[in-house]
Amino acid sequence: MEAGRTRLSDHLSQQLDADQSIHRDLGKLILDIATAVKEIAILTSQGALAGVLGNLASQNVQGETQKKLDVLSDEILIQTFRSGNLVAGIASEENDEPIANKNGGPFLCLFDPLDGSSNIDVNVSVGTIFSIQHAPKDRSPELADYLQSGRKQIAAGYAVYGPSTMLVLSIGRGTHGFTLDAGTGEFILTHPNIQIPADTSEFAINASNERFWEAPVARYISECKQGKTDVRGRDFNMRWIASMVADVHRILMRGGIFMYPKDTKDLSKPGRLRLMYEANPMSFVVEQAGGLGSTGRQRILDLKPESIHQRVPVVLGSRNEVERVEQYHREHDSTN
Ligand code: F6P
Repeated sequence: MEAGRTRLSDHLSQQLDADQSIHRDLGKLILDIATAVKEIAILTSQGALAGVLGNLASQNVQGETQKKLDVLSDEILIQTFRSGNLVAGIASEENDEPIANKNGGPFLCLFDPLDGSSNIDVNVSVGTIFSIQHAPKDRSPELADYLQSGRKQIAAGYAVYGPSTMLVLSIGRGTHGFTLDAGTGEFILTHPNIQIPADTSEFAINASNERFWEAPVARYISECKQGKTDVRGRDFNMRWIASMVADVHRILMRGGIFMYPKDTKDLSKPGRLRLMYEANPMSFVVEQAGGLGSTGRQRILDLKPESIHQRVPVVLGSRNEVERVEQYHREHDSTN
């Protein structure tokens, strides 16, 4: 190892040595995920040259049109896990049912292979999100085994395919960021112990949904927009990339609040984002960095999942801002 450059593998060994209660194979699994991420990064960076842009005729289980890269990324991850004996069961946003791995293994892996895929064709950052849980011992996993609450995750993280490819993850010992050195193919620790500032002056929300928001969300955003002329006493900035990975990554880097709240746009959906593939892993990473993840009414990591593709409202990021949004929900609910 070059002096001053900590590789992902070295970092994981150090972390596992420091906490003997963590399953030793977790490091190997994260290195497998890193290898898959490098393959996906190559495809995303080649874009039109690799013929991977555009839609397929198919839809996923959520009824969303699948992009070629969604499916390719899904296949890369599934193949990675199936060829090893670390992951007993695989659940992906793209597949109806979880897939059992005949080789077995101590872990379950749940993932969104390519988050923010509406951005693929316009060359804007996308990402991969993953969540790792313990698998049941001595038997094949059943659907109910995947429905563990978020606080039981043993690791979670994401890759962001942006100007550089980064892997940001937590095995429950803080949140750490690694940048892919395209020259050596190594992920290098560039952002150790990420801490989200507790306060922020930046919010991220799809404001085109404003007329569908609940009152507490409308109140919070309205006060941010009023800035120094109103109760907040300072001006706020707004960003919306429409890739959760990229929006949350920005918040991990410089603070902020990300919201995809409950709304009345489509009453059949209690939220836009998926609990098991998006909300839980991102809340884990955010909370390990000192932030908070909430539905507005409940901590996301405490939710008891009801179904594998369940959607939930998401409010996450800087702790004091998320707590303010929760307070507005409490005040609203107690008077209505
Ligand atoms: O499906 C997830 C997702 O693409 C997120 O990555 C992103 O935050 C959100 O949907 C964007 O939604 P919208 O298109 O409504 O802005």
